[in-house]
Amino acid sequence: MIIFAGENSQELAKKIARKKKAQYSALRIRSFPDGELYLRFMKEVKRKEVVIVQTFFPNPNKALIVSYFAVKTAKELGAKKVTLVAPYLGFMRQDKRFHKGECQSNRIMAGLLDAADRVITLDPHLHRIASMDEIFKTKTRKLSANKLIEEYIKKNYKDPWVVGPDSESYQWARTIAEHIDAHATILRKKRYTSTKVRILVKDKGFKGKDVVIVDDIISTGHTMLEPIKQLKKMGAKSVTCICIHGLFVHDALKKLKKMGAKVVSTNTIENPVSKIDVAGVISEAL
Ligand code: R5P
Repeated sequence: MIIFAGENSQELAKKIARKKKAQYSALRIRSFPDGELYLRFMKEVKRKEVVIVQTFFPNPNKALIVSYFAVKTAKELGAKKVTLVAPYLGFMRQDKRFHKGECQSNRIMAGLLDAADRVITLDPHLHRIASMDEIFKTKTRKLSANKLIEEYIKKNYKDPWVVGPDSESYQWARTIAEHIDAHATILRKKRYTSTKVRILVKDKGFKGKDVVIVDDIISTGHTMLEPIKQLKKMGAKSVTCICIHGLFVHDALKKLKKMGAKVVSTNTIENPVSKIDVAGVISEAL
């Protein structure tokens, strides 16, 4: 087995390779003078089990084309089996045509990645589709960071109150709360635009509590900012935001911290708060 890393996942890929006691190699990725992608495998892949680790942030569009080119090239060069590990799989939120004429990105992305023999990801955004098999033809494996988040919460909080900021977040917030025997509240969110949401915290009793808001993705941070503001007003002792995939666009991390929240994510995307390591979960699955 050789573990190849795309630009976005070099640290994580190295960790996975160490755990698997496998060779590690970074894909050579450059741009031709006109901006077209140049990609090269720097180690022999013929008859090898090839694993390509490439998360979909930053530069999700490039990450997709890098993944596709890498998988196709490995196959053409005679790899025995090609697994794409996309710790954060992008394009999953555009899971329907919200407006006439729109591209339904999740299906098209899956159609390209079907070139791999297997696609592995962590906590994909499954909302209007229930399973990866609804969009992928190739073999897929959906891993979860829930156990790691449970351990993190248990280690750091005595009597936490887990909050899911919207109805989809029950997959993480409710499940985690049940496993650690914590109180859970799932809020309702109305999204107006990609940067405007409305969330109302109705429950009482947050006064003096350590509240942990859990969601799959923090992108602009608005989904977290709304409840933090209200929970703080209600007298919560502390508010921690935990996500699996920390994109933190538009200075989200700064805004969340300014609002007085602690922020933690896994390292499916490397960022300054990616303290929860998913390398073990991925290497076990491999
Ligand atoms: C979508 O519903 C996801 O689960 C997240 O809640 C969402 O992507 C977060 O986006 P933002 O941080 O921009 O509010």
